[in-house]
Amino acid sequence: MAPSIAEASSSEIVLPVKADLEKTSYKPKIRRVIDEEGKNTTASYPNYLPVWDHGEKYPALEPFAHVDHGKDADPSLKDLLTADSRIQKLTPTIGSEVTGVQLSKLTPEGKDQLALLVAQRKVVAFRDQDFADLPIHEALEFGGYFGRHHIHPTSGSPEGFPEIHLVHRNNNAWELDEYLAGKNSSVSWHSDVTYEQQPPGTTFLYILDSPEVGGDTVFVNQVEAYNRLSPAVKERLHGLKAVHSGFEQAEFSLKRGSVVRREPVQNVHPIVRTHPVTGEKALFVNAGFTRSIVGLKKEESDALLGFLLNHVGRGIDYQARIRWAPKTVVVWDNRVTAHSAIVDWVTGERRHLARITPQAERPYETPYVPEKEDIKN
Ligand SMILES: [Fe+2]
Repeated sequence: MAPSIAEASSSEIVLPVKADLEKTSYKPKIRRVIDEEGKNTTASYPNYLPVWDHGEKYPALEPFAHVDHGKDADPSLKDLLTADSRIQKLTPTIGSEVTGVQLSKLTPEGKDQLALLVAQRKVVAFRDQDFADLPIHEALEFGGYFGRHHIHPTSGSPEGFPEIHLVHRNNNAWELDEYLAGKNSSVSWHSDVTYEQQPPGTTFLYILDSPEVGGDTVFVNQVEAYNRLSPAVKERLHGLKAVHSGFEQAEFSLKRGSVVRREPVQNVHPIVRTHPVTGEKALFVNAGFTRSIVGLKKEESDALLGFLLNHVGRGIDYQARIRWAPKTVVVWDNRVTAHSAIVDWVTGERRHLARITPQAERPYETPYVPEKEDIKN
């Protein structure tokens, strides 16, 4: 029998050799939320409660060839959006909501069309899904169609499934007080793990528990953010590259006594990225991980990056806010969006989500194309 995805990746765990174990009586700490909450936990999906294993270490990621299935998709989307389904736009340029489709039942053609739809609409919320109720390895098999699973360097995971990234907050009124004492807003724009050489593309997030109201996720369309710039600024941005760093995230995790499962990395990516399926150009900078612009002096880099991040953050006219409801799966394209959780509930209710994060191609850019008015002048 072929090994499951979880078994395949746990074979990559680097553990101390036996001699070291004997010398140091090394016993890695394991923190399990289920141990803290006990069998009477109120979590709807206790199998998804996070585990942080301090002995779990992974080697550096190796490059791999990514082929985007959106390229193979029938643009009619007939295998995805059937007569029984309904799709509604949330805003003109970003976000759709779909009912009447069961993602886990899609054929390969339907999955290809899902990749295309998500690239076009940037983020799509699918309601009434059975995803959270599937055995975890089946959810991972589904997600693995879209690219190689990313294992997050600092995340807790369901035991035995390191490819699942968990977001979990419970009884956190104290945490919110502490957080908001130092910040005016919880908005924290980012695209996921852009410090990797091959950051994620089509990405899945599904709700396990959420507050009755609050804890929405907001997404911004980075293609439209690019489109809104003047031709002069667009042209200047082409050819520029920025540094994306995972070091601060690793330091933050260590400071809180948590895990770092893989040594942090930084990578340089173009500021304007082309989507391999739609050909659209997107701004590829985010407040979470983009640190500086290569070749510019500090003040210049801070000013230009500051302008771009502010432009993205305030562009409510090209943002979409997703309200979670039980059994919702949100699928978005991390290559052409940034997002932020909104930490606005003070009821202590649990917010628990699972993310499946297939990696995509190494970001690349295509040359600046002057706009029509530009050519006339
Ligand atoms: Fe995220």
